[in-house]
Amino acid sequence: MAVVPLSKDEILKMKKVCRLAADTLVYVEKYLKPGMTTAEIDKLVYDYTLTNGAVPATLGYHGFPASCCTSINEVVCHGVPGADILKDGDIINVDVTSKLDGFFGDTSKTFMIGNVSDAAKDVVEVALLGMEKGIEAIRPNGYTGDIGFETQKLVTRRGYTTVKDIGGHGIGRVFHTEPFVPSWGKKGKGQKLIPFTCFTVEPMINEGTDDILEYDIPGSSHKWYATADKKLSAQFEHTILVTDTGYEILTLA
Ligand code: MF3
Ligand code: CO
Ligand code: CO
Repeated sequence: MAVVPLSKDEILKMKKVCRLAADTLVYVEKYLKPGMTTAEIDKLVYDYTLTNGAVPATLGYHGFPASCCTSINEVVCHGVPGADILKDGDIINVDVTSKLDGFFGDTSKTFMIGNVSDAAKDVVEVALLGMEKGIEAIRPNGYTGDIGFETQKLVTRRGYTTVKDIGGHGIGRVFHTEPFVPSWGKKGKGQKLIPFTCFTVEPMINEGTDDILEYDIPGSSHKWYATADKKLSAQFEHTILVTDTGYEILTLA
């Protein structure tokens, strides 16, 4: 399927929904504390999204049962909110996708709960830097491999690994579309970054092995993933617009 550039009006809609997704993370962060459940986080996301006239895109998406993903410690992504209780020292990625006026905005952050270890702080820092380095490599008519190359370089130098099989994706009028945006690769390889299209950059960074295990989500065709060695994994995600001169990060609060 060809990736079709967005019109001016569609870009405005993308900016709106992306801003809302980013604001949702700011809202949620204020409430995060040891002792709360991930179901409570989910409720905060649900209420904030509806209050702002949008819908949580993950709710019912291929059977996914919640308004966000909550991935704690060794969980790589797609953690399902529920009875899990946040403990002092945990790291948790909250991944929010909003849908407004037919368009999707997708963003996530890894938060630190209470007093976290230096090791946990470091993997979170490297996940943020890995995403930032990847984003900085974006050029109109460049390649997805340019992004993955820079992310992988930073992450490997710091002694961590990037998850290979899951990554970023085109986004706009649909939640997940082409191109696939890997967190590894070669400069000039992969798919072309077409001006006035949107995609996410969302590398998953592991403390140890890049091997991941997949687990079923009842009633859903989605899986949730954890590190095979149970060491930590962290992630940040932004939705990006490629322009004719560069790029814009749309999910800034
Ligand atoms: N927001 C996730 C992403 O970054 C996708 C979650 S889909 C779900 O692509 F069904 F697992 F929620
Ligand atoms: Co995404
Ligand atoms: Co996401």
